[in-house]
Amino acid sequence: MNILLTGGVGYIGSHTAVVLAETGHEVVLYDNFSNSSTDVIHRLTTIIGSDLPFVQGDVRDTARLTHALRTHHIEAVVHFAGLKAVGESVIQPIAYYDNNVNGAISLLQAMQTAGARTLVFSSSATVYGDPQYLPFDEAHPTSAINPYGRTKLHIEQMLCDVARTADHWRIACLRYFNPVGAHESGLIGENPKGIPNNLMPYVARVASGQLPHLEVFGADYSTADGTGVRDYIHVVDLAKGHLAALDFLRKEIGWHVFNLGTGRGYSVLEIVRAFELASNRPIPYRVAPRRMGDLAAYYAEPNRAKTVLNWQAERTLQEMCASMWRWQERLSRTAVD
Ligand code: WQD
Repeated sequence: MNILLTGGVGYIGSHTAVVLAETGHEVVLYDNFSNSSTDVIHRLTTIIGSDLPFVQGDVRDTARLTHALRTHHIEAVVHFAGLKAVGESVIQPIAYYDNNVNGAISLLQAMQTAGARTLVFSSSATVYGDPQYLPFDEAHPTSAINPYGRTKLHIEQMLCDVARTADHWRIACLRYFNPVGAHESGLIGENPKGIPNNLMPYVARVASGQLPHLEVFGADYSTADGTGVRDYIHVVDLAKGHLAALDFLRKEIGWHVFNLGTGRGYSVLEIVRAFELASNRPIPYRVAPRRMGDLAAYYAEPNRAKTVLNWQAERTLQEMCASMWRWQERLSRTAVD
C-alpha cells in the first residue's frame, strides 16, 4: 500500500516508517521539522537500505498535503504530526489547537479531495483522564485535563463523526500509553530538545552524566513503592501496532479505537533500577514534590488490540532500557565528535 506518514520524521513516525517499509509498503514521509531533524532521513535510509520519498510541509498547508497525496497515489495516512508537550500546551493553548485540531481538519480535507479514505490516528491514553477504574479499557469514559489532551479528544470526536458519514472512511484511533526505547540499530530514537520532560529520556541523560540526578516527582502515591506507575511500551512494538491497524482497515470501514500498551505498570523506581542494570551506571535520584497534573497510576487493558488486531507488545522493560541506552550512547558520542 502507498502510505503517507505525517510527522514521519519524528520519534514514533520514524520507527513506524521502518516497520512499514520493511513489510513492503511504499512509505512517504511528510514533516515540517518543527520537532525533528533531516539527519533522521539519512539514518532511515541506512536502516531500510533505500531512500524514502520525503515532502517538507506543514499539515495545515492543505494544498501541499493534497498535492503530496495525489502525486504519490496515497491510499492510507498515518497521522503523527502534532505538538505533544503537556506543560507547553498550558502556556500556549492556541498553538496546540492550531497545530493539532486545525492540522487534523486540514488533513481530512486533503484526504477527501485526493480520495484517500484510510487513516490511522496517533492518540493518547491521556484522553481517559482520572481513572474511574483500572486497567483503562477503550470503553472507559474520556475526559482530558489539559489543553494537549483536549486537542486529542477534539480530534477523536471529529474523526468519529467523519467515519459515520456515507463516504466509507476507515479510521483507527490508537491510544498510546508511554512509548519509550529506540530502534535496535541505535540509529533512531527520541532526542528531546532541552531538558527532557519525560521520565525515560531524563533517566538516560542522568546515566550518561549529562544531568546530575533525577527528581522523582512524588514518593507518597498510593502505589507499591509510593512513586508513579505507568505502562511503558517499546516504540518498535508501538510501530508494529500501526501495521496491524492498517491491515485491519483493509477489511473494515468505520471508526475503531485501540489501546496500545502492555497491560503492565512499572513505578518510577522500577524504571530507575532497570536502567541502572541496562546501562551499568548509577542513577542518583532525589524525591521531589509531586508534579502538577500527574496521576498516581494507570495502565492499559490491551486485550482488544490482541483479539481484533492480532497484535501485542512483546519487548520487555530490559529491552526498552537497553535500546534507549544504546541510542543515548550514540547521541553522547555524536555530541563529542
Ligand atoms: C512518567 C512518570 C512522573 C519525569 C506524558 C504525557 C502523556 C503522554 C506520555 C503523549 C510519572 C515521573 C517524570 C521526571 C519523574 N504523552 N517522572 N521525574 O506524565 O505519564 O505522560 O507522556 O501523549 O500525555 O502526560 O510521562 O514520562 O512524563 O512521567 O518522577 O523527571 O515519571 O511523575 O509518574 P506521563 P512521564
